[in-house]
Amino acid sequence: MVQTKIFAHRGFSGNYPENTMTAFKEAVKAGADGIELDVQFTQDHVPVIIHDRTVNRMTDGKGFVCDFSLAELQKLRMKEDSSERIPTFEEFLHWVEPHSVYLNVELKTELKDRGEIPELILPLLAKYGVEERAILSSFDHKALHAAKQKKPHIESAALIHQAMMNPSKYLETLGVEGIHFKASTLLMDEVAELQEKGYHLRPYTVNTVDQMNQFFTWGCEGIFTDYPDLALAVRKEFKR
Ligand code: G3P
Ligand code: MG
Repeated sequence: MVQTKIFAHRGFSGNYPENTMTAFKEAVKAGADGIELDVQFTQDHVPVIIHDRTVNRMTDGKGFVCDFSLAELQKLRMKEDSSERIPTFEEFLHWVEPHSVYLNVELKTELKDRGEIPELILPLLAKYGVEERAILSSFDHKALHAAKQKKPHIESAALIHQAMMNPSKYLETLGVEGIHFKASTLLMDEVAELQEKGYHLRPYTVNTVDQMNQFFTWGCEGIFTDYPDLALAVRKEFKR
């Protein structure tokens, strides 16, 4: 059985402002195997890293991310730490290139920007030579499918937040390698069945010791956690 990989969800977001360069750097320092981040587009079509559709919760600004130009967006400061701002995806890739961690790039697409993924995200993964260690994921399965058609060799994973009737049949149609599921939506036998078929199973967001041990026991390929330090300590003590 493989050792479960620990992905820092939005970086080391339990201790640092989520999706900031500091949260990513601290995740690597803590020893996380991978980093999860959320990508969407500015008004002038630059991919940037932020979770919400609006800047309201995280920054001192107000409004939809897609209504800001990059220059306007970069003037905003994070509420939790005014020395931090929203990073661009390219800035992140430039930094991460020499660090040997996995990257889970979650595409927070809207219908209107679905077409921009192949043009604006995929070439950057190639430019920085990280395709081999990147995983594309999205709740927008059409966007994921489109990316898969364009770059079949990049691993992709469907995000699900609800129970499904027949996940393996659906995944086959979609042509992805993985399923990233909300921690309570799949039962142990469903996980086992998907794993037997070769799918990579990674639950989110796994923040308690009990949940961590549960998914290590199930042999999940990875977990997403806000506390990579805790997950690493739990994994160290974990005995099958
Ligand atoms: O990629 C796993 C997880 O990040 C999906 O949910 O809302 O935290 O982006 P969310
Ligand atoms: Mg995410």
